[in-house]
Amino acid sequence: MTRTALVTGASSGIGAATARLLARSGARVLLHGRDEDRLAALAAETDGTALPADLGLSGAATDLAERALAVTGSVDLLVNNAGLGWAGPLPELPAGRLAELVAVNLAAPIELTRALLPAMLDHGRGQLVFVSSIAGRTGVAGEAVYAATKSGVDAFAESLRFELHGTGVTVGVVVPGVVRTEFFTRRGRPYTRGIPRPVSAERVAAAVVHAARRPGDYYLPRWLRFPAALRGAAPGVYRTLAARFGAES
Ligand SMILES: NC(=O)c1ccc[n+]([C@@H]2O[C@H](COP(=O)([O-])OP(=O)(O)OC[C@H]3O[C@@H](n4cnc5c(N)ncnc54)[C@H](OP(=O)(O)O)[C@@H]3O)[C@@H](O)[C@H]2O)c1
Repeated sequence: MTRTALVTGASSGIGAATARLLARSGARVLLHGRDEDRLAALAAETDGTALPADLGLSGAATDLAERALAVTGSVDLLVNNAGLGWAGPLPELPAGRLAELVAVNLAAPIELTRALLPAMLDHGRGQLVFVSSIAGRTGVAGEAVYAATKSGVDAFAESLRFELHGTGVTVGVVVPGVVRTEFFTRRGRPYTRGIPRPVSAERVAAAVVHAARRPGDYYLPRWLRFPAALRGAAPGVYRTLAARFGAES
């Protein structure tokens, strides 16, 4: 059973749903985000602790890990979920947004993991779950940097699986397609396609909790593993089909 969990991006969407689910299952939840009002409300609801931090700032992730350990002494489960998108032609991506995408989506999960891992290894037990994206497995037009950060998260998680084998620390990856959250409003382009159909944040949260207990890769919806597998096995065929059916979201 997970006793203490740090959920990043718990002030909204998938992170908030995950924190609620973990709290209902008896875990002590450490709630990260930037929006202090939302975090305070969720902390009251879940009997959790709000730990606000802007992960776009240098050193913020390491500082967050230290604050988390100061509150509970140990963190059994780290859910690396906080993230943001940006959609549009690459030359139009503002430099500041590029830096924020890399800092929040990729560097922060790496730094948080590095900071919390030693205590997990000392205890011989720990759970790491990464919220990635189908964009990182297949590529998406207009979201090259977002997709690159998620691909980086995937490679980091996969490498850790090998490195941590036999230590008692497990790695799970959740790969959502489209989730009904504020993500699309915030990225600057609404989601208008019919496929994949959007899933609820609660459904993704259930996959996150499941990935902590039974580590593996979990696609939401499950059929998304087929385009990802096709791209790996036959990239030429995949690109032809993607060009025909659209590689934007
Ligand atoms: N929605 C989708 O369709 C979808 C699909 C695939 C993967 N994902 C991934 O799912 C994860 C959660 O996204 P969501 O859909 O739940 O979106 P969301 O509702 O927009 O939530 C994003 C969370 O990340 C936090 N965050 C963003 N920038 C931050 C920063 N600079 N510092 C600290 N926290 C920051 C936000 O905190 P504040 O609100 O407090 O600023 C919020 O809690 C992300 O990693 C996203 O890439 C989403």
